[in-house]
Amino acid sequence: MSTKQDILRAERKILDIIDRSPVPEDPVHARNTAQWVERLGSSDPLLRLAALGHDIERALPAEKVKRDQFTSFDDFKEAHAKNSARVLRKILADSGLEPEEIDKICYLVEMHERGGSPEADLLKEADALSFFETNLALYSLRHTEEDVEKRALWGLKRLRPATRDLVLNMDYKDPHLSQMVRRLIREMNKGSRPLKGEERKVRT
Ligand SMILES: [Fe+2]
Repeated sequence: MSTKQDILRAERKILDIIDRSPVPEDPVHARNTAQWVERLGSSDPLLRLAALGHDIERALPAEKVKRDQFTSFDDFKEAHAKNSARVLRKILADSGLEPEEIDKICYLVEMHERGGSPEADLLKEADALSFFETNLALYSLRHTEEDVEKRALWGLKRLRPATRDLVLNMDYKDPHLSQMVRRLIREMNKGSRPLKGEERKVRT
């Protein structure tokens, strides 16, 4: 079992990279996802490290997978999760963490888009909640309204219905975004099909 110092060293290594990400929302999203992990009931330091590092590949332009290399958004996200786990494993190699702790963190990161264990499911949900709390407003500044709506719908589908309602009360800074999120949830709750051409490409 690693010491508290090892955990803090690993955290610093991760945040040093995330804080230099060219994606503007990354530093706040990493920390906010870790906060959601706690709010959803976990105080496991390894799950916290996975939350901080789950998107680490996109902080490194030379390592990251590109959206245009994939026809489906789900395939792109799957490749992103795998690649983040690969990158994080290299970063944590000399952190002082035990090999089985690194394995656990990297497993959680690899599974963060689709879940697969209670902890991976929790990370997936924390990530999805954080997308709405910290990313959506910034994402909307560099994408079309249509792309923002598709991305928001994709995010809402990652949440359990009970958790989905949490995003209703978030502050989106922009009344259009708040209205869009409310409308999408209303339409999902009615079971209607909210978007024409929803399978079309979602950008990131
Ligand atoms: Fe994320």
